[in-house]
Amino acid sequence: EKIEWDFEAAEKAGYEHFMLKEIHEQVSAIHNTLAGKVSELEGTIDLKELSMTDEEIRKLSRVQILACGTSWHAGLLGKYLFEQLAGIHCDIDICSEYRYRSPVISDGTLAIAITQSGETADTLAAVREIMSYNCPTLAITNVVGSTITREANSVLYTRAGPEIGVAATKTFSTQLTLLYILAVKFALARGKLSPNYVKGFITGLRKVPGQIQQILNQKEAVKECAENFAHAENYFFLGRHFNYPIALEGALKLKEISYLHAEGFAAGELKHGPIALLEKGTPVVTIATRGQTYDKVLSNIKEVKARDATVIAVADNKDTEIGKYADVVLTTPQTSELLSPLLSVVVLQLLAYYTALARGCSIDKPRNLAKSVTVE
Ligand code: G6P
Repeated sequence: EKIEWDFEAAEKAGYEHFMLKEIHEQVSAIHNTLAGKVSELEGTIDLKELSMTDEEIRKLSRVQILACGTSWHAGLLGKYLFEQLAGIHCDIDICSEYRYRSPVISDGTLAIAITQSGETADTLAAVREIMSYNCPTLAITNVVGSTITREANSVLYTRAGPEIGVAATKTFSTQLTLLYILAVKFALARGKLSPNYVKGFITGLRKVPGQIQQILNQKEAVKECAENFAHAENYFFLGRHFNYPIALEGALKLKEISYLHAEGFAAGELKHGPIALLEKGTPVVTIATRGQTYDKVLSNIKEVKARDATVIAVADNKDTEIGKYADVVLTTPQTSELLSPLLSVVVLQLLAYYTALARGCSIDKPRNLAKSVTVE
C-alpha cells in the first residue's frame, strides 16, 4: 500500500491556513519568548544577550528604532514604552526613509532594528547607515543566522518558531513581548520602576498566553462579525495611546489579506480629516479597552455614531458600559492598560483572517506581497 503524504497539510496541523495556525501559536510563542528571561519572584529581567551593563543602560540618552511594515508597528509601541516606562527619548523611523533624511545621531544612542526575517533590504540599509556612525545596534529578529544577526552588535530572538503566512502574526506579538521586557529592564536599571511594580507587571505578562487562549476560544464571535462586514467598501481602525499602534496593525492586516481598503488612525486625529470619510454603515473598529484614554475613546465612538457609521468595539469583558455605544462588542479578558495591546491585536488578527476567508482570498499568499522583501 502506498501512503501519500501531503507535507503542507501536515505542517498546518489541521488548520485551514498557516495564518490561523500561527495566530493560535501565539499562546506558546509568547511563553517561549519569555522563557528564562523574567523572574516573577524577584521582579527582575534577565537579558544576557543584550550584553549591556546597568551602568551602560543608565548612560543611554536615546533609542532609535528602525523597522518596516508590521515590525514598524511593534516599534511604535516600543517608543511609547521606552519613553513612558524608562524615561528614555525614543525615535522611530521607517527604514526606507531613514537614510535619505540626514538623521542626527547623538552620543549615547542605542539603535534597535526590528525585523522578523532579518533580511529586509530597507532595514539592513538603515542599520548599515546608523552603524557607520559607530552607534551600537541591537537586532530583534525571529530568524537565527539571518543577515541582521551577523551585522548587529547584539541580538534578541523572538523565538516564535517559523512563520509561513505572509501576514505576520506571532512574530509581531513576540516582538512586542521583547520590547515590553526590554523597556522594563531599562526602567529598572534607571530607577524608574520599583521591583514590586515589576513583579506585578511580570505576573500580568505571564497571564497573557492563557488570556490569548480565551480569545481564541471565542473566535466564532469574531468570525460572525467579520462575515457581517466582509463587503464593506472602507474599514477604519481607531486606537489611542498604547493601542494606537494596534489600530495601525489591525488595518494593515486587513488590507494585506482581504484587499479591503482599511486605514488606521490615532482616534484623536479622526476630527482632523478622516471623519469626512465616514458614511452610513462604514465599519469603524475602535479599541476601547480601559485605561487613561478610555473616556476620550468613548467620545470618539459617539462622534462616529453621530455620522451613522457602525462601531465595532474591542473592549474588556468586564466593561458594562461600552455596549450602550457600540454596535458590536468583541471582548478580551481583563489585563492592565499597559499589556492590553497583546490581547487587542489577537482580536484584530482574527477579524482580518475571517474577513479574508469570507471574501475567498488567498490568505497565506496574498497577491503582490512577499514574506520578506530583499530589494530596496
Ligand atoms: C514585508 C512583509 C511584512 C513585514 C515587512 C517587514 O513587507 O510582507 O509582513 O512586516 O516585510 O518584514 P521584517 O521581516 O523586516 O519584519
